[in-house]
Amino acid sequence: MKKIEIICGTNRPGSNTRRVVDIIANIYRQKNASFDIIDLHDLPAEIFHPSSYAVKPASFKPFADRVVNSAGIVLVSPEYNGGFPGVLKYFIDMLPFPESFEDRPVCFVGLGMGQWGALRPIEQLQHIFGYRNAYIFPYRVFMPAVHKNFNEAGEFVRDDLLKMLDEQATKFIDFVAHFQAVKPL
Ligand SMILES: Cc1cc2nc3c(=O)[nH]c(=O)nc-3n(C[C@H](O)[C@H](O)[C@H](O)COP(=O)(O)O)c2cc1C
Repeated sequence: MKKIEIICGTNRPGSNTRRVVDIIANIYRQKNASFDIIDLHDLPAEIFHPSSYAVKPASFKPFADRVVNSAGIVLVSPEYNGGFPGVLKYFIDMLPFPESFEDRPVCFVGLGMGQWGALRPIEQLQHIFGYRNAYIFPYRVFMPAVHKNFNEAGEFVRDDLLKMLDEQATKFIDFVAHFQAVKPL
């Protein structure tokens, strides 16, 4: 069965984005959805060599294959300087064109320290994925003041956001199943 790939949109060690990805993964697990996680922190260093535009290192192939073979993507992005992280754009640029995103369902979750919860980067990403002919899932989740969302024990304390993530997951799993039924990737 094809998987939904949950992408952690930064490679910053110890990122809150990865913590949110783990929360989302738990939700997908509870719903018995087939999923996996792509963490940009795990990208091989050699993909950042300028020669990678022309020749992709073999170590990048598992990452590209997982995107190309996915049933859909949940993209989780923090806000960095009013946009999404440079490493995420580089990852997008390294993936095969057009098959990585053409006709692929994509869903967005944003998080930031500020009050808008990464509204800006998610809308930037929607432009890019629109350009790439992805099926953009309209129900987005924004997580403001994300550093306050965890207690000292590291537990997530925002039940309202958890509910939104849960509703998004329910609807996105349905959305992906619809596309798999009528237009399998
Ligand atoms: C380079 C950098 C730039 C950032 N710029 C913003 C910003 O423009 N707006 C904002 O709300 N938070 C900003 N933040 C804070 C992040 O949103 C915050 O660290 C949050 O925890 C998500 O990022 P993380 O996954 O790296 O932890 C920035 C963080 C970094 C590392």
